Amino acid sequence: METKLIVIEEKNIDEEAKRGLKEAGDIIKNGGLVAFPTETVYGLGGDALNPESSKKIYAAKGRPSDNPLIVHVANMDDLSKIVKEVPDSARKLADAFWPGPLTMILEKNDKVPYETTGGLDTVAIRMPNNQIALGLIRESGGYIAAPSANTSGRPSPTVAKFCVEDLSGKIEMIIDGGQVGIGLESTIVDLTSDVPMILRPGYITLDMLKEVLGEVTIDKTIIDSSSTQKPKAPGMKYRHYAPKGQLTIVQGSEKEVVEYINKETAAAKALGKRTGVIGTDESKEHYRADIVKSVGNRLDEKTIAHELFKVLREFDDENVDVMFSESFDDSGIGQAIMNRLLKAAGHNVKIL
Ligand code: TXA
Ligand code: MG
Repeated sequence: METKLIVIEEKNIDEEAKRGLKEAGDIIKNGGLVAFPTETVYGLGGDALNPESSKKIYAAKGRPSDNPLIVHVANMDDLSKIVKEVPDSARKLADAFWPGPLTMILEKNDKVPYETTGGLDTVAIRMPNNQIALGLIRESGGYIAAPSANTSGRPSPTVAKFCVEDLSGKIEMIIDGGQVGIGLESTIVDLTSDVPMILRPGYITLDMLKEVLGEVTIDKTIIDSSSTQKPKAPGMKYRHYAPKGQLTIVQGSEKEVVEYINKETAAAKALGKRTGVIGTDESKEHYRADIVKSVGNRLDEKTIAHELFKVLREFDDENVDVMFSESFDDSGIGQAIMNRLLKAAGHNVKIL
């Protein structure tokens, strides 16, 4: 299949862009797939109410079919049409954070096929904060199932180029809308349990959710690497974002971390290995590995969220054998950064 690439500027949705969105919407209505930007990462979209479309999504990504998809909507009325009920908590969260990087789990009704929910009676729903995504949802009939637009196991795409790498020839269209704003996937909160529970940390933090809902918990299995229980979001059990080189996260004071990583990379180099370091703007100059990249600025952790997946993908192209990364505070957005980084490292952490 030939994959058509179109470019749309989110800030300038002119007549040509509207025609592009209509064409993309028709592809989805007819059972085809389109990769498109959201504010978090690029999504791989198909008609959420068409079981055949969901099957195609799993096939294009190489994703296990027990790992459910997120349904993207463009307004609240459409939300109420696909769930058993919209609880108060969902209305409050939507008022506070939609459109935005928050996914809610609710009880589905019969309109949503089990192919989309990986066999579950619940459905994940979010309203993305991106004009291209919202326009496409409206043109597609209201419900787009969209996982991140990467091959299963690779970092989520933050620019269209990465969608092309993973999906070219497998889907009908890719919409290039530039680099995404946030860079990490949405926060997922389960509203079907007595106390709302975060199943995947993201840009909307635990404290932000507590401010709206009062009590909120977090699925312990995703922050405690020694837990033997299964995470509640099926996708969180898979090793994601795995770079090709062996990655170790190093925790300690800045001075200790730099000394340890320089010692280890020197030893690896002596064995003929190619070495890499994920540092920050503050520390980058101190490392002596073959490839050193800054993932952002510690004083503004949003910059780290924004660049993390891009840096991990770039390292895949550098063919490094051994990689080290600095560690980040496990609070606020840092919780999402560390969750993705720990998964990339297969929970391989050196504590100094
Ligand atoms: O930011 C995002 O959420 C992006 C953009 C494209 O919207 N999408 C995304 O989708 O990250 P995906 O498929 O890569 O991740 C969806 C996660 C998986 O871990 C999946 O297991 C979980 O959501 N999930 C989906 N439906 C669920 C449900 N009914 N119950 C529990 N977890 C669910
Ligand atoms: Mg994903």
